[in-house]
Amino acid sequence: MSSESETAVSNGAASNGTDEPRESLSVVDNRTGRAYELPITDGTIKSLDLRKIKVSEDDFGLMGYDPAFTNTASTRSSVTFIDGDVGILEYRGYPIEQLAERSTYLEVAYLLIHGELPTKPQLDQWTHDITIHTFVHENLKSFLQGFRYDAHPMGMLLSSVGALSTFYPEANQIRDAENINIQTIRLIAKMPTLAAFSYRHIRGMPYVYPDNDLSYAGNFLSMIYKVAELKYQPDPRLERALDILFILHADHEQNCSTSAVRAVGSSQVDPYSAIAAGVAALYGPLHGGANEAVLRMLRRIEKVENVPDFIEGVKKGEEKLMGFGHRVYKNFDPRATIIKKACDDVFEVTGVNPLLAIAKELEKTALEDEYFISRKLYPNVDFYSGLIYEALGLPVEMFPVMFAIPRTSGWIAQWRELLGDTEQKIARPRQIYTGERSLDYISLSQR
Ligand code: CMC
Repeated sequence: MSSESETAVSNGAASNGTDEPRESLSVVDNRTGRAYELPITDGTIKSLDLRKIKVSEDDFGLMGYDPAFTNTASTRSSVTFIDGDVGILEYRGYPIEQLAERSTYLEVAYLLIHGELPTKPQLDQWTHDITIHTFVHENLKSFLQGFRYDAHPMGMLLSSVGALSTFYPEANQIRDAENINIQTIRLIAKMPTLAAFSYRHIRGMPYVYPDNDLSYAGNFLSMIYKVAELKYQPDPRLERALDILFILHADHEQNCSTSAVRAVGSSQVDPYSAIAAGVAALYGPLHGGANEAVLRMLRRIEKVENVPDFIEGVKKGEEKLMGFGHRVYKNFDPRATIIKKACDDVFEVTGVNPLLAIAKELEKTALEDEYFISRKLYPNVDFYSGLIYEALGLPVEMFPVMFAIPRTSGWIAQWRELLGDTEQKIARPRQIYTGERSLDYISLSQR
């Protein structure tokens, strides 16, 4: 067998005859004794290079096995940087702490999507464009009214965002840059409207149309809370706290829902359908549904005195401590630190949520316990966000919806990056087949 990357070796290691370090990996296939040299680029080897490693000419070649993509980079991306070991999160290079302190959600959405902070005229135009696209087609109201009175609003959101693709059929022209820009604006603008309509539906209250005089967060609060008053005026502290939560949730590189958006988007479907896939992925309790699960957990624990028993149950593997642990963060989740501070600001307006004491005790107990220390389990973004949402008067079913609204800008930024990435193709993983082969069909009467 011959291969460009196959090299003669001595002592089991590929060598170029010098002691110079090379950006490559030498591998010996002990089945054949052959050695291979695989190039290393950006700290990775190309999985496809493994296919050159074969036992015979007709062998398919070696594959990597990585069921949950725990050690597989699926893309190059310049959107979000995370260093989970030291708790760093940056959008387009800007630290999350600075953005949460000094920016606004719409500015961050622009940054994620366009790659740079906007100038003042750019931000004004962007804000204007998003504000004037907040209304949805009246038929979407009838569509939402078809749901049961107790429908989960996340299920309503994922269906209605998917349904938007039928209102904008031209959205499937994904090679038309202008078209992509307008669908981007529509998605960011209409998500809060769909979310608020879903909330009003489960509350049995009339849907409130967007108020384009208000900020992005302020308008959302108006669509949620407005009752009989002529104009709803959001409390600026709540408006700012919500805007910060939106900033913190805007993107998080290749997480489950973003990977879903990218995988579905790689089929070149329209963005509404791809984003619906992201909402579906976010719905699950291990992802965006975790904030809902945290609140249900805190309510079940009921009082601070029950915390030790609960923690013992977690350690015995009876259940998980929801809002703890992260695939990437193994030190602390910087978003959790910022949210803890936002909690105080919100509680100043709404009064302290009694569940906060249970949450703080859980955190304290877990952070001192060997089980959590040794597994590097720390509070994640969902541990405290639910307490804020509850203080805002939102029911737990709305919590994942509150995550989906801002994550839309991240999903779109990642989807747009995918469209422009010439290395990408339709996502299509391989499998290790474990089933039967070549069985003869047995007619029904003989089984
Ligand atoms: N409570 C108790 N034990 C846990 C927890 C937890 N929350 N999370 C992980 N572990 C244990 C796990 O049982 C395993 O123990 P062992 O080594 O003895 O088998 C060890 O820690 C490693 O966990 P893992 O399941 O291999 O970690 P993962 O990277 O596959 O899972 C996770 C990450 C976030 C899904 C998981 O930590 C979890 O289920 N947390 C609770 C749900 C949650 O809060 N999700 C929100 C994530 S942040 C928001 C977002 O991005 O969506």
